[in-house]
Amino acid sequence: MNLAVFVSGRGSNLLSILQSRELAGLIEIKAVISNKIECGAFEIAKNYSVPIYSLGDKDGLISYKDLSTFLSQLNIDLIVLAGFLKLIPDNVVRNFKGKIINIHPALLPSFGGKGMYGMNVHKAVYNSSAKVSGASVHFVDEAYDTGTIIAQECVDIRDVRSPEEIAERVLRIEHRILPSVIKMIAENKVRMVHNRIEVSE
Ligand code: GRF
Repeated sequence: MNLAVFVSGRGSNLLSILQSRELAGLIEIKAVISNKIECGAFEIAKNYSVPIYSLGDKDGLISYKDLSTFLSQLNIDLIVLAGFLKLIPDNVVRNFKGKIINIHPALLPSFGGKGMYGMNVHKAVYNSSAKVSGASVHFVDEAYDTGTIIAQECVDIRDVRSPEEIAERVLRIEHRILPSVIKMIAENKVRMVHNRIEVSE
């Protein structure tokens, strides 16, 4: 299964996919794509000889309006948003419906939506005095963090003393849950039944 991974930051979720033994032989990352010219995730991609592409309107960049065609030409089967901070163009969402997933560092539908990324999420969770947090993997639709949820895992945060502690515990979950969902999709084990996701073992 051919993947395109969209990134904007340090790339720890990209690394968890590249290092995942359960994905070895099941997937190939054809492209790492970012709205940034440089980012930590690009350095990781280079170390694994994965082609990198930046989005934008300048020469040498992939324009957002050509993105869907570009992904089709690479024969991409699954688009993975791993810390990508922009909205995916509507025509890409339409043309790749059911083939775009996102990892979010909270238990959606809580603590999601525009502006809810990175530490903003964990500060909101901390300040709410929530007793659990966690990570969610969901299909992507035209809005931020509102697509059908595929998988979630929660963690007890009653004893935390800072948003950073929440971030640390949730990131460990992210690095497990994202490769696991990719594997389930590669093995065609994810089904939509009455608008709910069912995973067949
Ligand atoms: C992760 O916390 C992810 O949930 C969120 O952005 C962060 C990306 O981190 N969407 P990294 O770039 O994968 O380390």
